[in-house]
Amino acid sequence: MNCRCCAPNGLDKIFDPRIARREAKAYLKKGLDQPGRAIADAIKEHGIAGASVLEIGGGAGGLHLELLKAGASRAVDLDLSPAYLEAARQNAEQLGFKDLVEHRLHNIAEDADGVAEADVVVMNRVVCCYPHMERLVRPAAERARRLLALTFPREAWWVRVGLRMMNAGLWLTRSDFRTYLHPPQAIFDVVAANGLSPIHQSFSGVWQIVIFRRSV
Ligand SMILES: C[S@@+](CC[C@H](N)C(=O)[O-])C[C@H]1O[C@@H](n2cnc3c(N)ncnc32)[C@H](O)[C@@H]1O
Repeated sequence: MNCRCCAPNGLDKIFDPRIARREAKAYLKKGLDQPGRAIADAIKEHGIAGASVLEIGGGAGGLHLELLKAGASRAVDLDLSPAYLEAARQNAEQLGFKDLVEHRLHNIAEDADGVAEADVVVMNRVVCCYPHMERLVRPAAERARRLLALTFPREAWWVRVGLRMMNAGLWLTRSDFRTYLHPPQAIFDVVAANGLSPIHQSFSGVWQIVIFRRSV
């Protein structure tokens, strides 16, 4: 499928208005969850003041909103779930950042030319939702002027078993959505080929968190 805004992999159906509203409410009430806090803290440690942010698959918006609270200058949020985009838009409005965030229904993996560079590019728990890792990670890395922050499932037998069980459950419920354990080394290789090197690595539950910096 070659479409810049339609959702492959059943993404728009799985991330529906009910889930989006629930996550938006949870963020307003409790802030980011543990993996979200871990990636936000790691980015802030490497400097966010004045930075432009591109978040791909921003969900209910919590991460880029936290980066704006920490001093980022503006953010673009690309997503394939209209429900998540609406939730992120409402959260931005509620927190007074409406004019600093652009929300777009857009698939960077199918149309990368339509997306501008940013100082900091973020993909939190997105790579595992998309079947074609390189098509997603390459344009993200190319557009990162300074930092690229990624979280993806760590390579471990129990993660592999968990994702297989999740996919079996999705198949049984006739969902089109599937999760993917893309090999972390392949992700590192794609990012390295685009001029960025890892400067931070940590784990939060099933998630591996890596911050890359542009080398030159
Ligand atoms: C598991 S959710 C994570 C949401 C949020 N980042 C978080 O951690 O709470 C995955 C998100 O990635 C989005 N997504 C997946 N592939 C995408 C793509 N190619 N372009 C834009 N968004 C994408 C989905 O629509 C969804 O919002």
